[in-house]
Amino acid sequence: MSQSIPHGGTLVNRWNPTYDIKSIEKEIELDIIALSDLDLIGTGAYSPIEGFMSQEDYESVVENMRLANGAIWSIPITLPIDETIAKDFSVGDKVKLVRDGEVYGVITITDLFTPDKEKEASLVYRTTDLAHPGVSKLFDRGTVYIGGPITVVKRIERDKFERFYLDPVETREVFKSKNWNTVVGFQTRNPVHRAHEYIQKTALETVDGLFLNPLVGETKSDDISAEVRMESYQVLLKNYYPEDRVYLAVFPAAMRYAGPREAVFHAMVRKNYGCTHFIVGRDHAGVGDYYGTYDAQLIFENFTADELGISLLFFEHSFYCKKCESMASTKTCPHDKSEHMILSGTKVREMLRNGEVPPSTFSRKEVVEVLINGLQRESVGVR
Ligand code: ADX
Repeated sequence: MSQSIPHGGTLVNRWNPTYDIKSIEKEIELDIIALSDLDLIGTGAYSPIEGFMSQEDYESVVENMRLANGAIWSIPITLPIDETIAKDFSVGDKVKLVRDGEVYGVITITDLFTPDKEKEASLVYRTTDLAHPGVSKLFDRGTVYIGGPITVVKRIERDKFERFYLDPVETREVFKSKNWNTVVGFQTRNPVHRAHEYIQKTALETVDGLFLNPLVGETKSDDISAEVRMESYQVLLKNYYPEDRVYLAVFPAAMRYAGPREAVFHAMVRKNYGCTHFIVGRDHAGVGDYYGTYDAQLIFENFTADELGISLLFFEHSFYCKKCESMASTKTCPHDKSEHMILSGTKVREMLRNGEVPPSTFSRKEVVEVLINGLQRESVGVR
């Protein structure tokens, strides 16, 4: 397979820094999620989406995991506002999209509607439990959704790890310049531990390149910060990965914790970045016990290979087996569970925050060092 075709056929480009915003008076203040979505729509990472969703697209996505035109799309991309200010806006308005006094974009309103959030939660998150971080965020945001095409007029400034921010056109160029015909995308919101490394490298045995694409947008407060993670990825790649086979760039979207639905979204976005393959392991984008271990793999049965346009690489739960003396999964290891080193992410975060070193069978020592130092630095407020 040669480089993947963007979702919907062409890469969307809604970036126009010379757009005349002077005559536009009305404005909407964006939250962090909407700001990152705006930028990602503008660069084509969310192709074929060209704006915040209309009511028709929204309802179709919630109910059928498809846009109104039939293209696969599993997560609503919405612009919520408070009911109290909704009366200030009407269909046909051009509105500046603002954050902290800066104008980042413009929307032409085609739709203003009150969503059924209970339904959105049940169908997208498979729960209405407010203890679920994605569901609680959904209900925290405004109760009226504004839809319509957008134009990005200003890019978000990146003071940290700027060189790792690449737009889909740029990652596609990178893959081309490396002569990678097949590229596997890897989503993560965590440090790369041994199990992640194992599935990445297993995939890398059969494709040309690995696109390590950690999500660095808004995450829940007890996840490890993007700054510390970025440091840990770099030290890991330097010590354990062949330089010409892996490329690191960030995915600046917010985490939704929507498990299966988010896995589909993650795959479509990586297709836009130019990946031909995408890894889905155990409990992808899951949180707590809301999703079955392999639900994020099973959900892809709803679609044909053709309409997905990216090959999914599914992996079993992987671990270190003391008897095998290697990483393995139940597919490759015959030994009893008691031989397997399995630590939960929560447990590891707890150990790291207490300065305890997780075993090298769980995480590389260089990574652990970066994580412990980073977490200690952050806990005393030094960034
Ligand atoms: S995620 O929320 O971004 O999906 P995480 O960073 O934990 O979380 O996972 C990144 C990817 O690695 C996902 O595809 C996930 O399914 C997979 N994964 C994580 N841990 C394991 C494991 N022990 N075995 C197999 N796959 C795993």
